[in-house]
Amino acid sequence: MTAQAHRQHLTHLHSFLKVWTDIWSLEVLDYTEKRLNEIYPQTWVEYLDQLPPEELWKIDARKMPLESIGEQSFKNFLSEIHELIQISKILPQQLDKLPTWATTSVTEKKQHEVQTLAQFFKQHPELKNLQLMDIGGGVGHLARIMGLYYGMNFTTIDQDRKLQETGLKRLNKYPHPENPGKIKFVHGVLPTITSQEELAKSESRHLFCEHDFSIGLHTCGPLAVSHLKMAIEAQQKGVLNFGCCYYKMCHHQDTHLSEHARTVPLDFTPFGLTLATRGHDEMSWNKYLLKERVKAFRYAIHLYLNEELGVNHIRSVGDSRPREYWGEFGPYAQAKLAKFDFPSTQSSKLTATQLQKYFDSSITQKRIRKMYLQNIIRWRLGRPLELYLLRDRAAYLEENGKKSYVLEFFEEKLSPRNIGVFGVDEEKVPKTKFFI
Ligand SMILES: C[S@@+](CC[C@H](N)C(=O)[O-])C[C@H]1O[C@@H](n2cnc3c(N)ncnc32)[C@H](O)[C@@H]1O
Repeated sequence: MTAQAHRQHLTHLHSFLKVWTDIWSLEVLDYTEKRLNEIYPQTWVEYLDQLPPEELWKIDARKMPLESIGEQSFKNFLSEIHELIQISKILPQQLDKLPTWATTSVTEKKQHEVQTLAQFFKQHPELKNLQLMDIGGGVGHLARIMGLYYGMNFTTIDQDRKLQETGLKRLNKYPHPENPGKIKFVHGVLPTITSQEELAKSESRHLFCEHDFSIGLHTCGPLAVSHLKMAIEAQQKGVLNFGCCYYKMCHHQDTHLSEHARTVPLDFTPFGLTLATRGHDEMSWNKYLLKERVKAFRYAIHLYLNEELGVNHIRSVGDSRPREYWGEFGPYAQAKLAKFDFPSTQSSKLTATQLQKYFDSSITQKRIRKMYLQNIIRWRLGRPLELYLLRDRAAYLEENGKKSYVLEFFEEKLSPRNIGVFGVDEEKVPKTKFFI
């Protein structure tokens, strides 16, 4: 990838996303009915409303072929998204067979991620032989598997001592193969206030300087930003980062890292960052039905609080077990509302029957159906938002002397945060071209 390609992609993402800012920057719950009707195209909502449930599910789970979309401007919207989220994939990896104890109690998701990365490094010996570090390594599956079975030297750093103790026990529990790499667990907290001065003062700085290459596998929120900044500050030879939980970032401080993104900025909000974190996996039919039901309950409580009780400061009433959503709304809502301290004239008088009647009324049903359909539209904007954040990170690496790439590494259905931002200093790593 060239710096120009990053800039171009950021510019395209910006032009598209900017138009839909009102939709992605706030949730449907944040708007009045009138405003929702203004910002969500009515023809799209009407089109979605007449589709059978299976087709709505297919649209939501990205299983619906674009040519089957029967509303032209909605089809254009989805086609544009489809184009914008295409990025290069690393080739499917033939995974090695490891001893069973290498992966005992390691989730299928983590096995897939670690093994894919191991193959990637195996194919690039110029990276494999470097001194590697794993940022936010948790129990250290990545360092343990790549160190023991692929002979790489790995230091794993995490702020959580308990996770690291568990990882160390695990490392010593089973037999080691011949010629393993050196594996070190280091406790450390990376600063997440990432001014240049803070980074230079950070205790973790020397670790970055002692290692050539750092990997951050699902570095949540601002940790991804610290990781990239510290790798640059320490002039490491390369870096590979997978972000997650974007909503934990500060929407002012941790976005628009590159100069180019600052020329095409987006008005990020915590809700926009939450949307970027949304799973884009292939949702099963049953999961979809549960989601629809959960949303119906949540919207109905929200409308009741706002419009019947005049309470508008409560956003979340907490999660419940799936079976509670398959029961009646009345008792569910009564139990939820009883937890809040409303004036007695309000909450104590609410009966389950009254709440059920409110839920069943055709007006409420129409409202929650519409909000759900509007959300089907909104959810589509998650992946382009994520790509804007990641492309910005790649452009930032490029502006700081690293050849950088945005690549899909993992299978999305196993690992939804499957895009890695990869950067190398081509003068220090003896290979000039990793990808076209
Ligand atoms: C989402 S988990 C990922 C763990 C592991 N890399 C994996 O893929 O399974 C993020 C890890 O980062 C660690 N972490 C978060 N913020 C950190 C910080 N500022 N410094 C060091 N570790 C941090 C957490 O303790 C946690 O183990």
